[in-house]
Amino acid sequence: TREQMESRILEIKQRLGEKLFIPGHHYQKNEVIQFADVSGDSLQLAQLCADNEKAEHIVFCGVHFMAETADILTSDNQKVYLPDMRAGCSMADMADIFQTDRAWDALVEQFGETIVPLTYVNSTAAIKAFVGKNGGATVTSSNAHAMVKWAFAQKERILFLPDQHLGRNTAFDIGIPLEQMAIWDPINDKLDYEGNPEDILVILWKGHCSVHENFTVKNTADVREQYPAMRIIVHPECSREVVSMADDSGSTKYIIDAIENAVSGSQWAIGTEMNLVNRLIQSHPDKQIISLNPSMCPCLTMNRIDLPHLLWSLESIEGGEEVNVIKVDKETSKDAVKALERMLERA
Ligand code: 13P
Ligand code: SF4
Repeated sequence: TREQMESRILEIKQRLGEKLFIPGHHYQKNEVIQFADVSGDSLQLAQLCADNEKAEHIVFCGVHFMAETADILTSDNQKVYLPDMRAGCSMADMADIFQTDRAWDALVEQFGETIVPLTYVNSTAAIKAFVGKNGGATVTSSNAHAMVKWAFAQKERILFLPDQHLGRNTAFDIGIPLEQMAIWDPINDKLDYEGNPEDILVILWKGHCSVHENFTVKNTADVREQYPAMRIIVHPECSREVVSMADDSGSTKYIIDAIENAVSGSQWAIGTEMNLVNRLIQSHPDKQIISLNPSMCPCLTMNRIDLPHLLWSLESIEGGEEVNVIKVDKETSKDAVKALERMLERA
């Protein structure tokens, strides 16, 4: 039963003490987050893993790229586990290293050494390594503005992987006109741009989040019509059109802080993942909160981590087995860490 699973998890947590660390991303289900030692957004969790020297076992309740990042940032005697290997990220899957190498060759041929690559942490370790090797850095939605500015202090142009929306929204916010942004299409190995290529400042990878793309212009217009007093706040993985119609946009942490600091009685429509929106609804009964899209928008891969998988992972650790260990090879790790450190130094 559920109660038996919960008490087994508690027992194992107690027995392993500080040897065990369970970070949980804000998009995880309540049944999982209740056992997390810390919950946070992707930047906070990466920092907490990097700072934790005591835990031998890190059971990452989040998605694959986050567990890879935790492995890269921890030492060799610390093992990182993902309770369900199917917990991937559809956005991270939209850029593979072979496509990236081909894109880079073509772009360097066209623009010479004028480009610095940036990758959203929602990407594979191989892409982080590619970015680290080529003088670039990772970004998260909490520090994207600072990192894009940093990149422009290095070189004239940036290549932003793999989320076109976070790239476009961030570059737009720091004053880059949309007309100076091009799209790299990794399926056809082609740069889509209508003007003079010399004017391009930002090259956006044609990737997106299948969860945040579900918040539409129509949803936004519907909320405006039905609830004129409602403030709309969205994650920057939403499209430019949706972000420009919203009152505010920001990372997972930014959204949480906005709701926590809001006055009692205020009304909010939130454009981000369902588990987080539901948790905010439950923890703020004094505010009227809805999802910007009435069908709520769960991240199906985040949701693959559930109570049975968490228990199974913990039991296997206790039994001395090494199941679902996420291990990034040394060569990749060595370059990926450069990209992550350039971000963490500034985060
Ligand atoms: P945060 O960086 O806001 O945690 O977002 C991670 C993510 O996967 C958003 O979809
Ligand atoms: Fe990936 Fe989107 Fe899920 Fe975040 S919400 S983990 S970007 S698919």
